[in-house]
Amino acid sequence: MAKFLVQKSGPLEGDVTISGSKNAVLPIMAAALLTEDKCVINDAPALRDVDVMCRLLESLGASVNKNLECNTVEIEACGELTWEAPFDLVKMMRASILVLGALIVRTGRATIPLPGGCAIGKRPVELHLKGLKALGVRIDEDQLARGIVDASADKLEGSIIYLDFPSVGATEVIMMTAAMAEGTTAIENAAQEPEIVDLANFLNKMGARIKGAGTDTIKIDGVDSMKGVSHHVIPDRIEAGTFMVAAAITKGSILIRNVVPDHLKAVIAKLRECGVVIQMTDEGVLVRGDVNEMISTDIKTLPYPGFPTDMQSPFMSLLTVAKGPSVVIETVFENRFMHVGEFNRMGANIKTDGNCAIIPGDKELQGAQVVATDLRAGAAVVLAGLVAEGTTEISQIYHIDRGYENFVEKLRTLGANIMRVDEL
Ligand code: UD1
Repeated sequence: MAKFLVQKSGPLEGDVTISGSKNAVLPIMAAALLTEDKCVINDAPALRDVDVMCRLLESLGASVNKNLECNTVEIEACGELTWEAPFDLVKMMRASILVLGALIVRTGRATIPLPGGCAIGKRPVELHLKGLKALGVRIDEDQLARGIVDASADKLEGSIIYLDFPSVGATEVIMMTAAMAEGTTAIENAAQEPEIVDLANFLNKMGARIKGAGTDTIKIDGVDSMKGVSHHVIPDRIEAGTFMVAAAITKGSILIRNVVPDHLKAVIAKLRECGVVIQMTDEGVLVRGDVNEMISTDIKTLPYPGFPTDMQSPFMSLLTVAKGPSVVIETVFENRFMHVGEFNRMGANIKTDGNCAIIPGDKELQGAQVVATDLRAGAAVVLAGLVAEGTTEISQIYHIDRGYENFVEKLRTLGANIMRVDEL
């Protein structure tokens, strides 16, 4: 199994270009199933999750031509598709559920085995199914009890759907299905993440009639057909936020290119509270951790536009070394403090109580053997390793490969002392 070895590094300096968004490209790839025409997706990051989605679409009958060196994926779902998603692919990636809506539209049916709970929480899909049922989809309850979503529909009809929680995945699946249902659908308490807006823009280019994406109410007038289009995926705001923290924690100065600052308002506000100087320039966002001493701040994760749960663990790495205590409250996932144990191996002395973590701060971290317990937690321990004395050895880095394109290379270009080793 490959590992990362991270040594204490000086201030990270230079510039970094952010890749296309993982969480935007995955639903967009699934939405390409809605047409028999070819869709060309540009700025697709070369990531394990993108690779899994390519294989999943192929297994369903689409022809997929990926050139991830050029960050392009072409998808052509002409002819008959199969409605059965294979478990060996689905179990590799929770986001496989995103094909649910488009498959029902194309084949009238979709069977997708649900992988069990993952490290950060249960991640159920009852909101996806509630929305689909409102559109006229039947769900086989016996199969569901066995962990298989078996959905079928003869006809899809628009409806008003209130989501009890603004689930990103549920909003995306319902949007794709309603785009080709008869009549009008309203999704209330919809997720407002930038990735939802990118998906709506992609669908609208294909011929859909979606309004209000990016607000809490999305209105969709169903259409009969969709056409193939070419699309550029938005930059990855979580990758950008991670490099912002890298500048802050190492007291460095990084120019972040290909970033939409509006997508990172909460993260930028919190970094400024810590003493980070952030300037918008014509070339990108300049993040300077070398001006002020880093001080503590409190964080509460929320659906967008609140502080993103995916930035919680990377940000916590900064709070472990900042001056003064901080409180972090996680409200989106019920079990997203796996990284706390890893930080504590490095001397952070964090205490948790339910969804609340208390970080004493002011710590000089020590290198240790730690585990990337999930994707973002993996990035978080890399950041901590950059300022820890000695060597930090990080295992289970396949999690990091799921979501950060060329992470080691980008960090090394900025002066980080990190390398990937393949263990025998
Ligand atoms: C997406 C992102 C993930 C991010 C998350 C929250 C992708 C591929 N992944 O995941 O990186 O951390 O949004 O911003 O875009 N929930 C229910 N019932 C449901 C659906 C969700 O209770 O039917 C709960 C989940 O258990 C979780 C919360 O809602 O606690 C957020 O989940 P959701 O917004 O659906 O996240 P994902 O779409 O899985």
